[in-house]
Order: sequence, then C-alpha cells, then structure tokens
Amino acid sequence: MSNTAEIEKIALRRGFFFPSSEIYGGLSGLYDYGPLGTLMKRKWEGLWRRFFLGLDENFYEIEAADIMHEGVFIASGHLQSFVDPVVKCKKCGYAERADHILEDVLQEKFEGLSPQQLDEIIKKHNIKCPKCGGAFQEVGILNMMFPLNVGVDKPARAYLRPETAQGAYVNFRRAFEVLRKKLPLGLAIIGKAYRNEISPRNLLIRMREFTQAELQIFFNPKKIDEHPDFNEVKDYPLRIYSEEKKLKFTEELSSSQVCKEQNLPEFYVYYMAKIQQFYLDVLKIDPKKFRFRELSKEERAFYNKYHWDVELELSDGFREVGGIHYRTDHDLSGHQKVSKQDMSVFADAEKFVPHVLELSFGVDRNIFALMDLSLKKGKEGMIFAFPKIAAPYDAAVFPLVSKNGLPEKAREIFGILSGFTMLYDESGSIGRRYARQDEAGTPFCITVDHQTLEDNTVTVRDRDTTKQVRVGINELAEKISEMLSE
Ligand code: GLY
Repeated sequence: MSNTAEIEKIALRRGFFFPSSEIYGGLSGLYDYGPLGTLMKRKWEGLWRRFFLGLDENFYEIEAADIMHEGVFIASGHLQSFVDPVVKCKKCGYAERADHILEDVLQEKFEGLSPQQLDEIIKKHNIKCPKCGGAFQEVGILNMMFPLNVGVDKPARAYLRPETAQGAYVNFRRAFEVLRKKLPLGLAIIGKAYRNEISPRNLLIRMREFTQAELQIFFNPKKIDEHPDFNEVKDYPLRIYSEEKKLKFTEELSSSQVCKEQNLPEFYVYYMAKIQQFYLDVLKIDPKKFRFRELSKEERAFYNKYHWDVELELSDGFREVGGIHYRTDHDLSGHQKVSKQDMSVFADAEKFVPHVLELSFGVDRNIFALMDLSLKKGKEGMIFAFPKIAAPYDAAVFPLVSKNGLPEKAREIFGILSGFTMLYDESGSIGRRYARQDEAGTPFCITVDHQTLEDNTVTVRDRDTTKQVRVGINELAEKISEMLSE
C-alpha cells in the first residue's frame, strides 16, 4: 500500500513540506519546505557533497544562474527534444501526458513512444477522458521548459534551466583554465531546475520546480575503459536490472562482470559502484531496496549513450531517484557549434573535446524516498525511522519538568551540543515530547532530570528501540557522534 497519504499528513503536521502559495489555493507541482524538511534537505545535500566531491581531488562545486540564454538550449537540444506527448479532452479541456493516461488505464509502461504510436493505442483501446468521459484530441507535443524575457528595453529570450548540468557545460572552458588544466575534471552543482510538467504528481516525486544535485565529469574518451581506482571496486556486487539485457530480476554482478557481461566501460561502472556505496553505506539503505535499471532506447534521454537510473523500492514500487548518464560530447560539441567558442582542451598530449559522464540526483525525490522508506508504526503512531545521519534533527533536549532548575541545565546542554542540529522542547508531557520527536524522526532524545543535578548525567533515548541509557554530560557529544554514525 502506498505511504503517500500518510507522508503528506505528517509532512503538514510536523513541517516537512507544504503546498506552495497555499493561502492562494496553491500551484500544482510546487512545494515549499518547512523547518524539518529544510533541515533534512540540507543534510542530504551535505552528505552528497562530502561523498561525491571526495571521490577525486579534481572535483569542485560551482554555482550557476538558473536563467540561461536561449542559445544554451539550442545547443543542448532541449528546445527541440525536451518535449512530452500531451492529450487534451475535446469536451472539458483536461490535459494529461499521453503515456501516463495509457499507463493508468492499461498498467503498462509507454514512455518514449512517439505521438503517433500513442495516438494509435488510445484509439485502439478507445481510451476516454478520466474526468468527463469525453474523446481526446490527437496527441501533441509540449516543450517542458519555462520561457522568460530578460530585460525591458530589448528583452532577450531566455529559459529557466531544466537541468543544472548546462550550468557546468557553459562554464567548462573557464573552469578548466582556472583549475589544473587536467582531466578528469568534475563540476558539481546543487541547485534548482524547472520543468513545466504536464502532470506533476506524487508530492515531491514529480515537481515543476525542484532541486538537483549533479556532478559532470569531463574526461578523455580514449580513457573510458579505465579508471585508476577500478581495482578497489572490481569485486563489489552491483545490483542491476535491465529489461533490455533480459535481466528479469535485480541481479548482483561484480563490477568486473558488469563491464564484461553488460558491455559497459570501466569508467562508467566505477561510478555505478560509488553511487551504490553512497546509498548503502552512507544513507544505510537496505540493499534489497536499491537497484540500477537500464533504460530502453525509447526511454533514454536524447543526449545519452548509456543511461541507467538509480532506483529505490518505495511503498508503491521502484522509483527513480537519480541516474548515471554517459552524455558523450553531445553537450560540449553542441555548445562549440552554436556559440562558436572552442570547447577542446589540450590534455594527455592531444587536443580534443572532452566527453561527459553525469551523475544526476533529484534531491526532493531522495527526501521523499527517505520518508517513504522510513515510515514505520511506532508505539504511539507512525514514526520516521530515518537513517540517523540523515534525520532533520540529530537530537532533542528536554528538561523532565519546567522547574527546579532543570530548564536551565537543559539549555546549558543545548549550548554544549551546538555542533549538532538540536531541538529544545519543554512543552507538554515528556511522553508527548518523545512522540513528537519520533514522528519527526529525531534519533535521540536527551532528558535532564533531577539526577542530572546530582551527578551530571542525562538519559539518552533511542528512537528505534525506545531504550534509555544514562550518559555523563562530559561524554555526551562524543557519544552522540558515535551513535549517529552507527
Ligand atoms: N541532467 C540530467 C537530468 O536532468 O535528468
């Protein structure tokens, strides 16, 4: 059963996320993050940054503008190819993605089919508007980018970027010059992307404004069959699934086998292993809930030669939370042609246009996935048993009662733990306070009681076991650090 309704309820009640512009009726596909959601998003981004930028000393983070020149999207192909098939009801005007309508009715995947193919299937199955039963117009196509006019005098045509990736490509030449003039070079961007989705759905899963964390790795294509650290992952079991390659179930194949049997280059497979390690080792995702899925030729993004999605199994099935894309020189050569700027570099004793391997993640989807995977029945109701390292708050501090000097002592401890993300709460019964923090996913609750005033110890309650241990205040910070990384 899908957890979506329950997640939405807790999200609103506890302040993870809210519909955007809600007091005006909201806008579909747009959400704002409340205090808990914001904390959690920043944590996830911090973990992502630390892990992926740490993979190579020549990887850096940059920040690029959300509004980009029209030329960018002529060169990238988005103006022509970043389109979705849409059907509109002749009677009530309801519009929906044609492949989604078919998916809902026929319970099969239709992504990547041409408008003509979708039209034929709609006619063959006599599919009607789900709102009013009216007939559909022919399937059309809609570009998903948001156009803008920049400036007043002679406004320039521009677009809100549909992916952060282009920000890295247009800055590549300068970044290469100011850095070490060396490949591979990684440029990461964590930032907003915008898509005018025909049918935004599933809360944070398909939004019109969303956050991506993307790493573009520029490399020498002649070196695609090697990675200096491949040995480290050669026996690492990758969880992969590919209808294309007739892997009916998720299989575990070592990275070396994936290279050989799935015909993928070492450079690509090395980063598959690293992505899996991020999910399994850093975020502590149950391996059974993780897989790479190869996209069929029809599903693949127009710029990709190899395209495997990163998927997590949520309460309503596997969902894409990221992807690993071999984009070849599609983007840099496109920009070279349209901008007339040379994108080639001199490296490894020759001149060439680098190729790009992209590691792409939807931050909001990842937050939603953690909420879905962590939703559990607790003693008092539903709780979020988040991976401890990714929970919004690391710990909460409570005085047992709001008198006898306990609040003062609790605030003192709150100050001592200022290096953690902490919450202080003295309102309501202690049981209610524990229940509130369980629902917010806070891994540890520290309670100051009368014994604290005598021996400088506090109780630390574990969200998952509800067990309490007494810990000395002077060793509290170390203990919390230790328990957070377990
Ligand atoms: N940059 C890849 C994507 O947006 O899916």
